[in-house]
Amino acid sequence: MEEKFTNSGRLSDKVAIVTGGASGIGEGICMEFASQGAIVAIADMNYHGAVRVVKNIQEQGCQALAVEVDLTYQKQIMEATAKVLEHFSTIDILINCAGWSCFKAAHEFTVEEWEKLRTVNLDGPWHFCQAVMPEMMKKRRGKIVNIGSIASIQAIPKAAPYSIAKHGIAGLTRTLAVDLSPYNINVNCICPGPVETPLLIKATKPEFMKRSAERSPLGLGKPSDIAKAAVFLSSSDSDWITGVLLPVDGGVTACIRAHHYE
Ligand SMILES: NC(=O)c1ccc[n+]([C@@H]2O[C@H](COP(=O)([O-])OP(=O)(O)OC[C@H]3O[C@@H](n4cnc5c(N)ncnc54)[C@H](O)[C@@H]3O)[C@@H](O)[C@H]2O)c1
Repeated sequence: MEEKFTNSGRLSDKVAIVTGGASGIGEGICMEFASQGAIVAIADMNYHGAVRVVKNIQEQGCQALAVEVDLTYQKQIMEATAKVLEHFSTIDILINCAGWSCFKAAHEFTVEEWEKLRTVNLDGPWHFCQAVMPEMMKKRRGKIVNIGSIASIQAIPKAAPYSIAKHGIAGLTRTLAVDLSPYNINVNCICPGPVETPLLIKATKPEFMKRSAERSPLGLGKPSDIAKAAVFLSSSDSDWITGVLLPVDGGVTACIRAHHYE
């Protein structure tokens, strides 16, 4: 018989909003959170995808809600947050995971592409943090985990607006960690290396995946690798950790791969 989630895990009865939870890393986080007892609100512009994940979670006997939201509209973020509060009465955890990228030479990005990449990857997370702050400040407790990237620490070639926005996520994390510390709200950032998800497959050429796997000391990651770190940073196990950028990257940022060494 298939094992059901137990509802007695490390996030028992915590209400978590996961942006981008309809796919890839976000979906992995939703499933892992539900398995740890969390109640999950999946905030994504892909409503049908979010509903699919909700059904998967409910089949395991856990609570979940799909909320349609386009992160490029601050008003929709406020409405989505209000909907979660109306439904579950509180918000304990925010996971800012939704993101998008495309690759080209820096001088080729249009104004519209710059706007979209900055809005989805940086403005959206900022607005979502602001939206959940009043509830977390009122309770004097909360966990915010931003999903950055190794592009928050190093430059990824031919992804200038994405790398700039993800560096911004590092600043957002440290700044809010300090400003929200009087309220016991932890703000941390996970920096994933290459994880095989629709984003990476769609944004890159097939040989990119092969090269990424070769360049990563531990190969490609899985959404569950990121999800387990997100559970840690959302649980009481990390209560004295804030403002941290945690690479979960198979060793990519630890390693210089220069051809003359090989
Ligand atoms: N896959 C990787 O290798 C990798 C590496 C480093 C960082 N990341 C980061 O991890 C996060 C998740 O990436 P993924 O690979 O799982 O991607 P994915 O494409 O599989 O999932 C992204 C999700 O975000 C949602 N989304 C995109 N734009 C949105 C918007 N404007 N409003 C609301 N929802 C929106 C999509 O609908 C989708 O469900 C992103 O922030 C990405 O930058 C991914």
